[in-house]
Amino acid sequence: MATLPKVVGRVRDLRSAVAGFRAEGSKVALVPTMGALHVGHMALAERARELAGRTVVSIFVNPAQFAPHEDFDKYPRALEADLNKLAEVGVDLVYAPTATEMYPAGFATRITVGGPSEGLETDFRPHFFGGVATVVGKLFTQCAPDYAMFGEKDYQQLKVVTRLSKDLDLGVEVVPVPTIREEDGLALSSRNAYLDEEQRKVAPVIYAALTRAAEQIRAGTEPQAAVDTASGMISALGLKVDYVAARHAETLAPLKDAKEPIRLLAAAWLGQTRLIDNIPV
Ligand code: PAF
Repeated sequence: MATLPKVVGRVRDLRSAVAGFRAEGSKVALVPTMGALHVGHMALAERARELAGRTVVSIFVNPAQFAPHEDFDKYPRALEADLNKLAEVGVDLVYAPTATEMYPAGFATRITVGGPSEGLETDFRPHFFGGVATVVGKLFTQCAPDYAMFGEKDYQQLKVVTRLSKDLDLGVEVVPVPTIREEDGLALSSRNAYLDEEQRKVAPVIYAALTRAAEQIRAGTEPQAAVDTASGMISALGLKVDYVAARHAETLAPLKDAKEPIRLLAAAWLGQTRLIDNIPV
């Protein structure tokens, strides 16, 4: 059995471990996670291992990115299983702070990113990117990695943290990692664990609808018409659509002309579970 990675919970211990990595001449890659790790997270860790001599994975279910009515309490937590998985890919260090280590008494700062955070998720989860940007800003300054891996599955988040790192000169290169999918197309997500057997069969419709819309756009259909059709296809299977949208692939701004690179993004509820996905055109 592979050796379990060392686990630290304090900022000072994280910093001293990373200083040790630096002293040996290694580059450091950070993989920020909320735990309940699946194959998608392993792909992030493997990419980190390719890029840097030392890999740090943070595991922290960040209360600041959940609204009071959301699934913070029931979000899956599985530290022991996570450590075993991380051992298999040779992760060097796990940073698993408590909420009070991350947000000590009196904590009163929140990072707001504009640009790519506007619309889409923010229309439905207005608290979300403030919470993500604040914790990622803290993780970047606590760990000071050379690289940080983010999955394309959370495409808007990827663009927001890329903007954050550039705008605040955090010196961290945000590295996108492609979405990992089940055989039927469903994007891997820790929240897939909430789906019952029937819902699991229906869930791939989001990817199928986006794929069809991308084909239609490539064949000349106007993007708005294609995403409207995709939205109808998803609703027809009983999901409640939050949005299906065609956006500029880099800025996530609404499209201005047909020559722009396009990303299709969707979010929909399947029962009590909110699923998101996106693909390039
Ligand atoms: O994508 C996630 O798991 C979280 O949003 C992140 C980036 C770890 C911040 O809490």
